[in-house]
Amino acid sequence: MARKIILDVDTGSDDAVAIMAAILSPDIQLEAVCSVAGNKDIDKTTENTLRVVELLGAEVPVYRGCREPLVKFLCPDRLEREEKKKVVKDGKVVEMHSDYLDIPTATIREQDISAVEFYVQYLRQAKEPVTLVAVGPLTNVAMALMVDGTIAEKIEEIVVMGGGYNITNVTPTAEFNIWYDPEAAQRVISSGVRVTMVPLDATHAACITLDDCKRFRALNTVSGDFAAELCEQRIVMHNAAQPLDVPDAAAVHDALCIAYLIDPGVLKDVRHVHCVVGFRDFCEGQTIVDPRYYTEEKNCYYAFDGDRFKFVDVLCDLFARDKRKGR
Ligand code: RIB
Ligand code: CA
Repeated sequence: MARKIILDVDTGSDDAVAIMAAILSPDIQLEAVCSVAGNKDIDKTTENTLRVVELLGAEVPVYRGCREPLVKFLCPDRLEREEKKKVVKDGKVVEMHSDYLDIPTATIREQDISAVEFYVQYLRQAKEPVTLVAVGPLTNVAMALMVDGTIAEKIEEIVVMGGGYNITNVTPTAEFNIWYDPEAAQRVISSGVRVTMVPLDATHAACITLDDCKRFRALNTVSGDFAAELCEQRIVMHNAAQPLDVPDAAAVHDALCIAYLIDPGVLKDVRHVHCVVGFRDFCEGQTIVDPRYYTEEKNCYYAFDGDRFKFVDVLCDLFARDKRKGR
């Protein structure tokens, strides 16, 4: 029986790989995709999401979500994101996330109601539990839980791409999704729903290499070719700005959350912990995980490691299922 999920994205290069993986997996029934502001503004993340859904010809509704974090942008003194240095390769500026994905402009449109309204309406009437996979800032999910807390009873698990214990990426203490909306992240982690955090410690360990991209291309499918393009772009950025322990490799954070639903073994050293999100000053957006044995009530499962060999095998199996031949 396929697992029902709702994917919440700020598409984004790695979000795009996650959306394709969810669409192609026979183990997943993708009920909807909800966009949120994060990597880019809500117009761009929504358009990019529509483009990926249309590229794979999937009949999956897309709902436009929140255009700003809950409160962060109201606080003028909140930590600014460090300006990222421009990376130029072959005379072209390369970014981890392009404004628009290099695939055809969408001709399909998002649904009429917002993502938050969809979450509340869908979950209120849900007859079976559903899993939320949130791979962008947690604004939509937090807003839905604030509108109607009873929807938590219909959520089997919330898988969150976010956080970092020994690894950060947007400030010395924070990972981007949590940093962009720390208050939303805390509301989700404290919601009482089973929360599995997939932080940078796991996504950097479960990285994708240039050789893995060759495996994707050898499948000669639309999804395999597009995933290879996105991962190769990410490898250029990681080599320039955040080299991994494995040479010529990139974290493809969001897709690891989908792979976890298919093969939980892609996450390693998963511990039940108490996690607090920092709101202010230098700990803004930090996932403060209390490793002490006698800590307070535990509120999430946190993956401290990942398995890159299992991860790439899951992705190759999924892209091989794509009936659309190469780009
Ligand atoms: O820090 C990585 C996360 O931030 C990923 O979800 C990426 O898409 C960005 O949203
Ligand atoms: Ca993302």
